[in-house]
Amino acid sequence: MSTTTSMPPLPTLTLIVATTPSLGIGLRGTLPWSPLKADLAFFARVTKRAPPGSTIKTKNAVVMGRKTWESLPPKARPLKGRMNVVVSRNAQTLQLPGNEGSQEPVIAAGSIEEGLRILQDTYPAPEPEEEQEKDKLALGRVFVIGGAEIYKAALEMECCARVLWTRLRGEWECDVHFPKGVLDIEGKEGGGEGEWAERSIGEMEKWVGEDGVGGLKKEGEVEFEVMMLEKEGI
Ligand SMILES: NC(=O)c1ccc[n+]([C@@H]2O[C@H](COP(=O)([O-])OP(=O)(O)OC[C@H]3O[C@@H](n4cnc5c(N)ncnc54)[C@H](OP(=O)(O)O)[C@@H]3O)[C@@H](O)[C@H]2O)c1
Repeated sequence: MSTTTSMPPLPTLTLIVATTPSLGIGLRGTLPWSPLKADLAFFARVTKRAPPGSTIKTKNAVVMGRKTWESLPPKARPLKGRMNVVVSRNAQTLQLPGNEGSQEPVIAAGSIEEGLRILQDTYPAPEPEEEQEKDKLALGRVFVIGGAEIYKAALEMECCARVLWTRLRGEWECDVHFPKGVLDIEGKEGGGEGEWAERSIGEMEKWVGEDGVGGLKKEGEVEFEVMMLEKEGI
């Protein structure tokens, strides 16, 4: 007699990205613009912050493509305070330099789904009646941090729920772009189930867990604003 074990639903995914108005995100394996300190600090806070209201000890995860992993300065990887998942078609043989001696778990996975299943198995949430074991962490929020190929794969998944979008004013030369069809929602107020809709600043700040996120910001000559989009019905 065969037994089947049902798999838990995959965790919801939040994409976090910075783009030019024409959705450019990268150039020659790196960011096209000089680092925006305020946006990078926002990225770090948001991707590390425990889900507001959580009563158990959690750690968030960041999921990235192999090229985005390689674009991180060796000293900065793995990204601290988060579980790092690197997606590659050669995950089994992937060398992840920068991992030596680090306290942060780094998982190489052959697909986003495989990475999510590994995270769920390794960091399960305690059952409601169970006390969380000391020093044991459960999986918190999962962020997809790029690049374009991995954003595209994530957007095709049902569990892809949200995009936190830093929208730069001004164009830079780019050779990698965010997929079309999600961020080009100008003027749309939402629609049917499965459609993407922009959320208010208040809704975004509540989800993110901090005030002052919305509105136009300026660093040097670069103006940018953060917006949140969500897929209806998820
Ligand atoms: N502006 C932003 O917010 C932002 C954020 C992140 C990155 N970026 C930029 O984006 C650029 C990198 O993006 P990219 O699109 O070239 O590369 P990427 O998405 O970071 O990585 C691509 C790699 O991921 C693996 N991969 C892709 N799809 C897969 C799938 N379906 N299954 C399994 N593995 C898969 C493959 O690795 P293997 O070749 O090893 O099989 C592929 O070569 C850089 O310029 C970076 O600076 C910008």
